[in-house]
Amino acid sequence: MVDEIFRWWPSVRQTRDELPWRSTRDPWLTLLAEMMLTQTQVARVAERFVVIAERFPTAEACAKAPLSEVLALWVGLGYNRRAVALHRTAVLICERHGGEVPCDLQSLLQLPGVGSYTARAVLAFSFDVQSAVVDTNVGRVLARAASGTQLRPREAQTLADELVPVGQVRDWNLAIMDFGHLVCRSRSPMCESCVLASSVCRWQQMRRSSKIEIPDPAVGSGGVSTRQPTFEGSDRQGRGRLVRAACLGPLPEDELCHIAGWPNEHERALRIADMLVVEGIMRRDANGCYQLA
Ligand code: ADE
Repeated sequence: MVDEIFRWWPSVRQTRDELPWRSTRDPWLTLLAEMMLTQTQVARVAERFVVIAERFPTAEACAKAPLSEVLALWVGLGYNRRAVALHRTAVLICERHGGEVPCDLQSLLQLPGVGSYTARAVLAFSFDVQSAVVDTNVGRVLARAASGTQLRPREAQTLADELVPVGQVRDWNLAIMDFGHLVCRSRSPMCESCVLASSVCRWQQMRRSSKIEIPDPAVGSGGVSTRQPTFEGSDRQGRGRLVRAACLGPLPEDELCHIAGWPNEHERALRIADMLVVEGIMRRDANGCYQLA
């Protein structure tokens, strides 16, 4: 599998190398990119990463900025809890690690918003630590090609770790990620032209020898994301609107429902605003207005 994917990768590498975070090995910028890439599409992150990286070239620059500025820069990326986590992470990197991103898994996992995926991505892409990065693309390739059956998260990680070629940590993780994104796609995978299809891919082998349709092993596998719930009309949409408006000034309680886009759902808007307070993103001021914390 490794050889086949490495033979395929040069055909796309140059284009993928244009992604702005791929031209750096700086641990802080890698951490920033990976925190942005969790749950937001690559194309959307690409533009904003350049802006945020320029404003916060170091953990210290981010830690010193007010949370409101981080939130304002995050607008449009969705899931603004990640902006809060980024800011806290920057502060903790300064407090605990002298402003340098730590290079061991345990310390990375202690940082808010940094899970197994993000921590391993920093280790692999910035520190050349022998480590497999299992994002949704990689999880899909592993379930289909390497296993042929659904994988639990730990199984996916173990399989991925076994594949990493010594001395090629960064390239391998990028290559398999790109392969999942461009060839072993979630919907309509390109099996006809796939370099793994003829002799490597377990799912293909089973499909060829079976008269019945073999279900996609990637569905429900560890590391493979399910489709995101509809955004339109969701709590998430209202939450984003409240935070965006709060970046411009305090929000009176009786206007919350209009700002959230739910003119007849005062209780719902209030619940979301109170949740933002609990999360430390907003605070209720003496006038009963909601402000960024
Ligand atoms: N390059 C490094 N990390 C990446 C990611 N999460 N998605 C796409 N390209 C990447």
